[in-house]
Amino acid sequence: MRTVLVLNGPNLARLGSREPEVYGTATLEDLRESCAATAADLGLSVDFRQTDDESELIAWVHEAADGQLPIVLNPAAFTHYSYALRDALAMRTAPLVEVHISNPAAREEFRNLSVVAGVADGTIAGFGFGSYQLALRAIVGLLAGDG
Ligand code: DQA
Repeated sequence: MRTVLVLNGPNLARLGSREPEVYGTATLEDLRESCAATAADLGLSVDFRQTDDESELIAWVHEAADGQLPIVLNPAAFTHYSYALRDALAMRTAPLVEVHISNPAAREEFRNLSVVAGVADGTIAGFGFGSYQLALRAIVGLLAGDG
């Protein structure tokens, strides 16, 4: 069974209490469970992680590159300014889908730019936790060569 890394950046451990009008009231644990359920339906196994630490996130991206692991990534605020994360992702050896719970294109101007989008296979944003389900489905297609 193929393992997909589902990586989450800063402040996403606060889901449930963080700006519920933007991100909803479900928690990171709820997100973990829904990703695991979708992955099981798709015949994938999910390794779900969250960090507030840029260097830890980059180390996980290196680990994925070394292990040919596909990634579903919500870079959170790193999306908008982390060239270090972008450079790490450019070394990827397997599919990468960027996800966002909200739709950054419809929010503050600083969120309109993603510095990682250009090294991803694609970006899914604005569908709440559904963005992750869609991304896992996209990974299956990319692994099958339908990307
Ligand atoms: C986010 C959008 C980012 O702009 C923000 O910094 C986040 C969450 C999202 O999932 O909607 O932390 O990535």
